[in-house]
Amino acid sequence: MVQPTAVKNEMEGDVYHPSAEVVSEAYIQDYDKMYQRSMDDPEDFWADLAGELDWYKKWDQVLDDSNPPFYKWFVGGKTNIIQNALDRHVKTYRKNKLALVWEGEPGDVRTFSYFALNREVCKFANLLRSMGVEKGDIVTIYLPRIPEQVIAMLACAKIGAPHSVVYGGFSVEALAERIEDAESRVLITADGGWLRGKIVKLKDIADEAMARQPTIESCIVIKRTGQEIYMEAGRDYWYDELMGLPISNSQSETVQMDAEDPLFILYTSGTTGRPKGVVHTHGGYMVYTYSTLKCVFDIKDEDRWWCAADPGWITGHSYIVYGPLLNGATSFMYEGAPTHPYPNRWWKMIENYGITILYTAPTAIRGLMRFGDAWANRHDLSSLRLLGSVGEPINPEAWRWYYQVVGKERSPIMDTWWQTETGGFMITPLPITPLKPGSATKPFFGIDVEVVDEEGEVVPPGEEGYLVVKKPWPGMLRTIYRDPERYQQQYWEKFKTKYQTGDSARRDKDGYLWIIGRMDDVIKVSGYRLGTAEVESALVSHPAVAEAAAIGLPHDIKGNAIHAYVILRSGYEQSEKLGDELRQHVGHEIGPIAKPEQVGFVESLPKTRSGKIMRRLLRARALGEPEGDISTLED
Ligand code: PRX
Repeated sequence: MVQPTAVKNEMEGDVYHPSAEVVSEAYIQDYDKMYQRSMDDPEDFWADLAGELDWYKKWDQVLDDSNPPFYKWFVGGKTNIIQNALDRHVKTYRKNKLALVWEGEPGDVRTFSYFALNREVCKFANLLRSMGVEKGDIVTIYLPRIPEQVIAMLACAKIGAPHSVVYGGFSVEALAERIEDAESRVLITADGGWLRGKIVKLKDIADEAMARQPTIESCIVIKRTGQEIYMEAGRDYWYDELMGLPISNSQSETVQMDAEDPLFILYTSGTTGRPKGVVHTHGGYMVYTYSTLKCVFDIKDEDRWWCAADPGWITGHSYIVYGPLLNGATSFMYEGAPTHPYPNRWWKMIENYGITILYTAPTAIRGLMRFGDAWANRHDLSSLRLLGSVGEPINPEAWRWYYQVVGKERSPIMDTWWQTETGGFMITPLPITPLKPGSATKPFFGIDVEVVDEEGEVVPPGEEGYLVVKKPWPGMLRTIYRDPERYQQQYWEKFKTKYQTGDSARRDKDGYLWIIGRMDDVIKVSGYRLGTAEVESALVSHPAVAEAAAIGLPHDIKGNAIHAYVILRSGYEQSEKLGDELRQHVGHEIGPIAKPEQVGFVESLPKTRSGKIMRRLLRARALGEPEGDISTLED
């Protein structure tokens, strides 16, 4: 086999060329040619890809751009993402192919063929219908990483009820405010989930959230951990009991949807205020997740794909649930922590299941890297042919470890840059792309990106600027649920015709893109997206806190960690105990990932004259960096 070679590039460090074997197997052989085509005639390009999927009725118009930024794709087309994720496959040999292989943290294993997955989805869809869930009703799903999470999402899609999945690591207030915004009447949850050998008591959290948001009329509870839980008569039902009823038979019709009908809402953090409900559709999102996964990870029938994210985040929506099923692939899913019971858990599963592609986040790689090479070296990882990274910039040290120790210098790393809002990969290598550690390389087909200055002018190579997207693409968010103004203002106000990503980046002289990070008040903690505003509002919901500010500071494993500063109400004394209580309080309200690393007690917070907290200044002070322009600082 031809080994890849690392060539020194004086500007950006090493360049890694994929091996001849990887290149020869690749689905896309000529990036430049295809990219050019996608730029010259995007509608034609996307129509071709959409044509690889089934439609009940073909679209009349590929793109309707008559009312920007409210773009519409495949207008007049009729489909349902389930038509292509399940219905299509069960009519072919894939009926007997594994769709999902799942391992629980305690070591229990469950597998689903396309036939079996479809049967469970049909049963659950019938059940939801019998509970009165109709097309357009938003169902909230709050589950651990178990197969029912996938089944629930697909069942909702099948009947045209948009799902709103709340990450199982979120807690009471995060769940309550999402239920409230979506006005959900049905909640799907579990008694608990396994994490690091302990039970995360999801139903207890759900009970508290339902008490805060009484819109929920029915709560379906999946038994996972088996401990005693509270079940409210007339509201809470065991999933197993319902699925045993004659109503949930295994035939169920897939509802025909307009291409532009919403498939799901996924709440994500923005610059200000509460999380916003990002809306994705049946048609465009389907075409986009199908084609990005196919081209970037070269999905083949014999692959065993493992996206190690959680279905509760966009990565899981697009690349655990929809993308792999649309491609008829076999996916692996794991419930628990990478280090449980030992730091070889992931490597053992790769060997055991013959995983061919691993897609994960830099924070997970750094977390495993600190245990040394021996844990990985003890296992046969030769099944791996491609690796992937997502969620935050990958530091070259972690990149090299991933490449050398996990991939044995055979598997190129697809560093995919994208967002909840973009639906799928936006800037990413293909298996044929020469790689530079830390660069997400080049835009995907049809994606027209630029790095611009404050005025929207393109900056010269090597200079940092705002990352923007110039052309609409099928996987883009359509709006913010119930808040079109916020959609317009957040993404389209600053650069008018260009989508503002919120990230800063630079392009090198070879045209490679390097993502630097968020330019707003969003903090990526272990790859998870959190807003300073959410942490601050959780802090001020504690009786001791008058005012609070949260910032992100660099952290070796997490990438960033949250640090908080609080001003106490009179009558409260600062103490280590209170600091700890405040950290726990944030954990209880939002979730353990949002717990500040440290809570500092202060007398005042730096603010602008208009009263905005200057987090930039807090950050500079904490890091001992120059304070920059402080002319707007209040006395
Ligand atoms: O800052 C970028 C970072 O994650 C943000 C989007 O977060 P979220 O909506 O939660 O989606 C994460 C998974 C798609 C981006 O604005 N980000 C994501 N991928 C990368 C990245 N930063 C650098 N390199 C990446 N590969």
